[in-house]
Amino acid sequence: MAFVTRQFVRSMASSSSATGPAASAKKILIKHVTVIGGGLMGAGVTQVAASTGHMVVLVDQSDEILAKSKKGIQENLQRVAKKKFAENPQAGDEFIKKSMSNISLSTDAASVVHSTDLVIEAIVENLKLKNELFQRLDKFAAEHTIFTSNTSSLQITDLANSTTRQDRFGGLHFFNPVPMMKLVEDSPGFIVNRLLVPYLMEAIRMHERGDASKEDIDIAMKMGAGYPMGPFELLDYVGLDTTKFIMDGWHKMDSKNPLFQPSQVLDKLVEEKKFGRKTGSGFYKYK
Ligand code: NAI
Repeated sequence: MAFVTRQFVRSMASSSSATGPAASAKKILIKHVTVIGGGLMGAGVTQVAASTGHMVVLVDQSDEILAKSKKGIQENLQRVAKKKFAENPQAGDEFIKKSMSNISLSTDAASVVHSTDLVIEAIVENLKLKNELFQRLDKFAAEHTIFTSNTSSLQITDLANSTTRQDRFGGLHFFNPVPMMKLVEDSPGFIVNRLLVPYLMEAIRMHERGDASKEDIDIAMKMGAGYPMGPFELLDYVGLDTTKFIMDGWHKMDSKNPLFQPSQVLDKLVEEKKFGRKTGSGFYKYK
């Protein structure tokens, strides 16, 4: 997606046109972006958007969470600058300063969306919460504002239907870690998670049945399939809560599908608030 590398111009059809969408296509320059949810994904999206020259407002529920997100973004930018400007540390410092100055923080999405071109929602994977958020924002956002969701598994139409802007609503599915992963999916029926999540669940089931230890499964997939991370390392990286949200949602939609069956081990870890790297423990422990 061009958004990752430069400001992009998007053609947008006006739904009220009597002469057809092509005749009334408007060009929207995406300059102001609002990212909602400053967790793993939202912080990464904010970093990329700010470092590619967009003005970004990052929204989350508390000042504490926002401060943590901002600190993480600053540290990541320092790492990027060290590599990108290895020969010119002064240019690296300017890059960090400029990127950080493009970011502002807010705990109230409704008060900032009136001046935004693009909303990227990255809150928890929960249809009800996402719908409540979009429904509320729809009342405050400007007419031209495009709403997008970073959802991993929910139907975009189910989200768009909570607003009056179905023609300005899309999926914008980034990958984790956002600053490093080149793919962004914006078509319905995301490909990667449909294949990836059943694979991760199958690894958990293999471990649950006692076929192999999680360590051995991880080693096998890294050495045998050439994956950079084993499934349990990846599960902890993605977030066990997020994985459970996805699986529960799919199970609800298609409860007979053997690929979409829940796992007791996963449910127990989530119940114990062991979400993976972000909480310090999941399938593995982190300092
Ligand atoms: P996370 O749990 O790290 O972050 C979610 C953030 O949203 C938290 O900081 C929370 O305080 C905030 N939040 C919750 N409700 C809110 C509200 N009403 N208003 C403002 N902020 C709110 O979750 P993560 O991993 O960043 O996932 C976010 C979205 O991105 C989910 O839809 C997930 O499915 C999707 N996603 C996750 C990926 C992953 O690898 N973790 C990959 C691609 C998509």
